[in-house]
Amino acid sequence: MPLKLTLRTISAISLALSHLPLAFGSSCDFSKRANTTKTEAETWGGITPTKDLVWHPCYAQVGTFECARFQVPLDYSDPDGRDAAIALIRKPATTKEGYRGPILFNPGGPGGSGVDLILALGDAFATILGSQFDIVSFDPRGIARSTPRGNHFDTDVERTLFAANTGPLPLIKDGVVTGIERIWAQSQLLGSLAASHDDGYLQHITTQNTATDMLRIVEAHGEEKIKFWGFSYGSVLGATFAALYPDKIERMVIDGVVDSPDYYATLWRTALIDSDKTLQLFFDNCAEAGPSQCPFYAPDPADIRRNLTALQNSLLVEPVIVKTDTFYGVVDYSIFSLQLLGALYSPFATFKPLAQALADLAAGNGTGLFSLSAEPVMYQCDCDEDAHAWASLTDGLTTVACNDGVEVSSSLQELQEFWNDLATVSPFADFMGTIRARCTNWPKNKKPFQGPFVGNTSHPLLVVSTTADPVTPLVSAQKMAAGFNGAVVLAIDAGGHPSVNAPSTCAQQHIRAYFQDGVLPEEGTVCDPIVRNPFLAPASATEGGAGGIGLVGRQEEDAKLLAAVKEVAGKAGSVFRAPSARRRGL
Ligand SMILES: *[C@@H]1O[C@H](CO)[C@@H](O)[C@H](O)[C@H]1NC(C)=O
Ligand SMILES: *[C@@H]1O[C@H](CO)[C@@H](O)[C@H](O)[C@H]1NC(C)=O
Ligand SMILES: *[C@@H]1O[C@H](CO)[C@@H](O)[C@H](O)[C@H]1NC(C)=O
Ligand SMILES: *[C@@H]1O[C@H](CO)[C@@H](O)[C@H](O)[C@H]1NC(C)=O
Repeated sequence: MPLKLTLRTISAISLALSHLPLAFGSSCDFSKRANTTKTEAETWGGITPTKDLVWHPCYAQVGTFECARFQVPLDYSDPDGRDAAIALIRKPATTKEGYRGPILFNPGGPGGSGVDLILALGDAFATILGSQFDIVSFDPRGIARSTPRGNHFDTDVERTLFAANTGPLPLIKDGVVTGIERIWAQSQLLGSLAASHDDGYLQHITTQNTATDMLRIVEAHGEEKIKFWGFSYGSVLGATFAALYPDKIERMVIDGVVDSPDYYATLWRTALIDSDKTLQLFFDNCAEAGPSQCPFYAPDPADIRRNLTALQNSLLVEPVIVKTDTFYGVVDYSIFSLQLLGALYSPFATFKPLAQALADLAAGNGTGLFSLSAEPVMYQCDCDEDAHAWASLTDGLTTVACNDGVEVSSSLQELQEFWNDLATVSPFADFMGTIRARCTNWPKNKKPFQGPFVGNTSHPLLVVSTTADPVTPLVSAQKMAAGFNGAVVLAIDAGGHPSVNAPSTCAQQHIRAYFQDGVLPEEGTVCDPIVRNPFLAPASATEGGAGGIGLVGRQEEDAKLLAAVKEVAGKAGSVFRAPSARRRGL
């Protein structure tokens, strides 16, 4: 069964606006969900950072894990200067015979926690890839349990109030953008806060440095070359590594692929070009599934679209109040948009609940929509302060994205022009526009890494994408693959972001064969998902088995692999999610 994890985001382009009305943190429930005997502070505070990898048992109550704090130079050009400590976790190989060393993972963001990823999905990854690998990840420098941490506030309460004061999202309606002034001004303030909390660490929190950290981690494991699987923003990290260290690659999968040049240009412009394609899938799948499976059904997909648009527009006139025993809030136009984009990340897990939530909302009940991607948690001040200390996804996202990107003008007018252009790409432009806004008064950085993203790698990259990814379009995967000799694009004919949200035993078998034997699929390979229409999927990811309705004839496949693929997809809805009523990252 899925662990009830409420992980801060992981997926690539889920952005970081943390200014929604409620449900600010998952920090408070982290200790509850992991329910380890030790608190987070005890777990990590009890480990002294070392230049070798020294592993300590950790999180014993949720599985067999080992943790380490790995010491690296904060500034690689000043190796004797200040250090950073990278928080690592691994699920050790259980097959010692034929041991193959570590595979490193990155969950996306930027700002996503690799420790959280492995706690949630480490076992499933081991099943998919093989027990001869150590399943390893880390909180990248500046993020979560790694220190120093990207942090722009003195306390979490202050961060939370700041987010709450950001005001409404700009409104994008019929391609016209209004109301960016407030977010621009708040972003100016955020840049000042970042500067006033910078004791010299800030400029070193970059993807380029994290790529070098990964090489050091691999070397500390006694390996010369990396094996890596990066999701979403993790594809930027992977492509950066490949550009910097092309001869250090044993295996590299980049999955849910960001257009790295666009990212490093602080544009975030190409991310959303397929978002409407994923939305169209929702309409098509709903119409095909019929009223018994899709509560927001209409016979013609175009009618479903019209119904959805009308419903969203009605919120401009009259927002809907939500109040339950455990949370409350308001469903307005922006929250609707945010939850909708979030649902598009994981059609397999979320299309059905989305359709129910839309039907409920049409009947005046906004609870389902408000809590679509995760049950909202009301912010409480009396939580363990240590648990709060690292719970700064948005700070981490802003830090990495703004440090990595080329400098952005501080002009409000230029931001407005940028946003107007972005709105021509997608009605979800808010999510990307906000990231750029946050960089408009960012402390001046050195020369950001600019590629080029080309290389003759020591093993060809495997580049994975769905055919309808709402935040990392297939065309970005093709673009990034073109830069690296021999790289092959593996597509999954489904919606969702990244591959783990589009469960496909075919794709995961290719990924396994790649890691185990180095074999790449043929150019142009397109895998089917296990379920063509998410409305016709078994009720939960763990039910139904290989013979369930809608499965695409892969019954002969390894049942364990299928179970793992479904387990990942079931959890991925919460792990690899984007915008939600909580903090977001990409
Ligand atoms: C953690 O687990 C213990 C024993 O299983 C239980 O008694 C306790 O209530 C749990 N704590 C939380 C915060 O869930
Ligand atoms: C959706 O559209 C159809 C056709 O226009 C209409 O009959 C139906 O009542 C609408 N449903 C909702 C929930 O708005
Ligand atoms: C609103 O929907 C939720 C499910 O999302 C349900 O639990 C609740 O009972 C509904 N409220 C009313 C008043 O129908
Ligand atoms: C890439 O590297 C391999 C092995 O070093 C070499 O044989 C090949 O010619 C190189 N290809 C290009 C395009 O540089």
